[in-house]
Amino acid sequence: MTDGLKYHNYLELDTLLSLQKPRAAESAAVKSTVLSEQFFIIAHQASELWLRQVIDDLEAVIDVFTTTDDTSQAEWIVDLLQRAGELTRVLHNQLTALDRLPLRDFAMFRNLLGTASGAQSQQFHRLGHLIGNAEQDGPLYESFAAWVTRSGHTVPDIARRGIDADIYYRIIEALLDIGNGYWRWQVSHISLITKVMGNHAGTGGTTGVNYLVSRCTLPFAELRELRSEAHVGLSVATS
Ligand code: HEM
Repeated sequence: MTDGLKYHNYLELDTLLSLQKPRAAESAAVKSTVLSEQFFIIAHQASELWLRQVIDDLEAVIDVFTTTDDTSQAEWIVDLLQRAGELTRVLHNQLTALDRLPLRDFAMFRNLLGTASGAQSQQFHRLGHLIGNAEQDGPLYESFAAWVTRSGHTVPDIARRGIDADIYYRIIEALLDIGNGYWRWQVSHISLITKVMGNHAGTGGTTGVNYLVSRCTLPFAELRELRSEAHVGLSVATS
């Protein structure tokens, strides 16, 4: 039924806007601390919403790679991968907005987080699993490579042919954009933390910055290796 449907019903805004509950509001905190905690909550909740979209899009891509043997849905794959890449930029922006979190307010409400930490984000771990890391490819890349093989090509061959490989090459470009977006998010997360926490330990019980630096990783190792090989023999001759 769509009769009488209004914006706030369709988006379930009453529910959505009831979900930001700064804990500082229940204490004797000043208004500025309550508003800053709300800002902190919204940045995390918005990130989780965008993560949901990225994960669903990437799982749809893996499904196509796994269940089809032709390029009939390849344009849709490119659309989904490019959207996921764009959303890594949105996630990055949610994070850099937190540069505007006043240090004093954060110090005031941080103890109210208890042991809650982004390290417990199941969706972030799911994303990390799908795209893999520098040591281990995830199902996104593995299903892509298998799909390419079933279509009679190889990933190195496609990388070598570059734009002549058309849709296959555009998929590689989109994968690399996702990997770079993921990397950019990790680096910005670390620089944000150095700014608002210095060397403080995390609420999740880690050392904080040093722990996160050790976890920073660039996925799609084979694509990067092939990227460097593309430079061999292609330079313009100098006189
Ligand atoms: C002022 C803002 C932030 C601070 C101070 C902060 C701090 C930290 C710290 C110290 C850790 C290490 C784990 C621990 O001991 O707690 C961590 C992990 C993490 N945070 Fe944040 N964070 C902030 C914003 C965000 C945002 C907006 C997100 C988005 C959902 C996020 C997601 C994560 C994730 C996914 C991890 C685990 C990363 C990994 O395992 O490699 N954080 N954060």
